[in-house]
This record gives sequence, C-alpha cells and structure tokens, in this order.
Amino acid sequence: MIAIVAVERNWGIGKDGDLLVRLPKDLAFFKESTMGNITVMGRRTAESLPGNRPLPGREAIVLTRKTGYAFGDAKVVRSAEELLSVVSGSEKDVYVCGGGQIYEMLLPYCDRCLVTRIDADIASDTSFPNLDAMEEFEVESKGEPVSENGFTYRLFVYRRK
Ligand SMILES: NC(=O)c1ccc[n+]([C@@H]2O[C@H](COP(=O)([O-])OP(=O)(O)OC[C@H]3O[C@@H](n4cnc5c(N)ncnc54)[C@H](OP(=O)(O)O)[C@@H]3O)[C@@H](O)[C@H]2O)c1
Repeated sequence: MIAIVAVERNWGIGKDGDLLVRLPKDLAFFKESTMGNITVMGRRTAESLPGNRPLPGREAIVLTRKTGYAFGDAKVVRSAEELLSVVSGSEKDVYVCGGGQIYEMLLPYCDRCLVTRIDADIASDTSFPNLDAMEEFEVESKGEPVSENGFTYRLFVYRRK
C-alpha cells in the first residue's frame, strides 16, 4: 500500500474535519496518482469529499465500524483485516488516503508514502505519524519546491527500509 498525504511542518493534516489548505496542483498530483487505482479512506474523510460521494475513476473502499453503512458505490469494510482480504490479489495500487485514524492504522502496511510537505505552521487537530522520527522509513526522493496560494511545498517520497 502507498500512503498519500499533505502535511504542515509539524505533520498536521486537518482541522475541524477539513483539509488545512487548498493546493490545486497538489490535488492534481493526488488525482493523477490515484486515478485507476484503489483508494482507501476512513468514513470521516469519505464524507468530507466534494459532493459527498466517492472520487470518480477510482475504486473506493471506506472503513467504518457502523453496520449497514453505504457510501455511493464504495466498498465498505469494517476492519483492517477485512480491507486486506478485499485488496489481496488486486493488480491495482492501493492508496491510503486518510484521515488521521486510517493513516495510523494502515502505516504498518505501507511501503511508500507520498508526502506533500507544506513549509508552514498551520493549526491542526489531526496528524500523520512523523516519518522522520521513525527508523522504518527513509527519504527516497524530494521534489522541487512549488509555490501556490501563498504556500511553498515539496513532495517527499518515503520508502520503508
Ligand atoms: N492532509 C491530507 O492529506 C488529508 C487526507 C485525508 C484526510 N485529512 C483530514 O483528516 C481528518 C479526518 O481524519 P480522522 O482521523 O478524523 O478520520 P478518518 O481517519 O477519516 O475516519 C475515521 C473513521 O474511520 C473509521 N475507522 C477507524 N478505525 C477503524 C477500524 N479499525 N475499523 C473500521 N473502521 C475504522 C471510523 O468510522 P465510524 O465512525 O463510521 O465507525 C472512524 O470514525 C479531516 O480533517 C481531513 O480533512 C487530511
């Protein structure tokens, strides 16, 4: 699995159920990366999507503990184990798309993390694990800085050692 996330300087990812900033080029990168593949997200992140429906062109899987839950045409799973059995054998890439609970739960299954690092301190109430503090991950590549909407950010690809 591959985690894909945008973080501020302290690895914050969201506040009050929403993203921290709107970065259209980064959203385009997210779209390009995930298109045609499998996206996995928690119920809260799924319900924050535009139009409150799964992202088009991608196979959507939503994690919830609720019974009888439906989210458009997404597959709904109730545990990491069920998720793993649903995606096993798929030839598509599996992108872990958040939010905080789901990143934390599925990071042990991710061998790559595509991290857009925003060079700003932005107040957050949800975060991604600090990969720089984890022995298991190393930086594989760093993209060029991009400036948009008053923010500068760059893509870091982390790889499991
Ligand atoms: N910066 C980024 O790249 C990025 C990306 C995505 C999201 N975000 C942000 O992250 C925030 C949302 O994150 P969050 O942590 O509050 O919520 P979340 O991870 O999106 O979803 C949490 C929900 O997932 C379900 N869940 C969690 N663990 C589960 C398990 N073991 N088995 C089955 N279901 C499980 C539960 O759903 P039920 O309550 O239905 O049981 C839980 O309430 C928002 O602010 C969002 O904007 C940021």
